[in-house]
Amino acid sequence: MLTETTRQTVQHLVAAQKHVPGALLPILHDIQDALGYIPAQALGNIAQALNLSRAEVHGVVSFYHFFRHEPAAAQVVQICRAEACQSMGAEALWAHACSRLQTQGGTSADGAVTLEPVYCLGLCSSSPAMVVDDKLHARVDADKFDRLVAAAGSAA
Ligand code: FES
Repeated sequence: MLTETTRQTVQHLVAAQKHVPGALLPILHDIQDALGYIPAQALGNIAQALNLSRAEVHGVVSFYHFFRHEPAAAQVVQICRAEACQSMGAEALWAHACSRLQTQGGTSADGAVTLEPVYCLGLCSSSPAMVVDDKLHARVDADKFDRLVAAAGSAA
């Protein structure tokens, strides 16, 4: 169930762009920017406004990894899992992060950190790369991961 404020935010953002051709992705970005995620309860409203089916909107939200289905934790960590980073150990780094944070991706067991995959951060030559709270970091290994996440956590 959406709160009245959230419902109004969604309604306002949909109305602002619904007549623009190809409005679905910009609307979804605006909603995520405003709320931090795309509420499942908003999909019907978006679909109706754009004359799409709810399944079509859901398909787009699910296809793009950067759309969240739930609000993120206070700290967000994104690890690049695209090819260049994979070839430099990103999968081992991802496994380390999952084990450290006790999640398979998503929000950690203690609710403090949201771990997300991303697919290229433009730092391919210095891979593996990750983002901690919007800051890019290159050549990340398990030790560096632990240091960065601990430092970000204590700064929060
Ligand atoms: S593939 Fe990871 S930064 Fe480009």
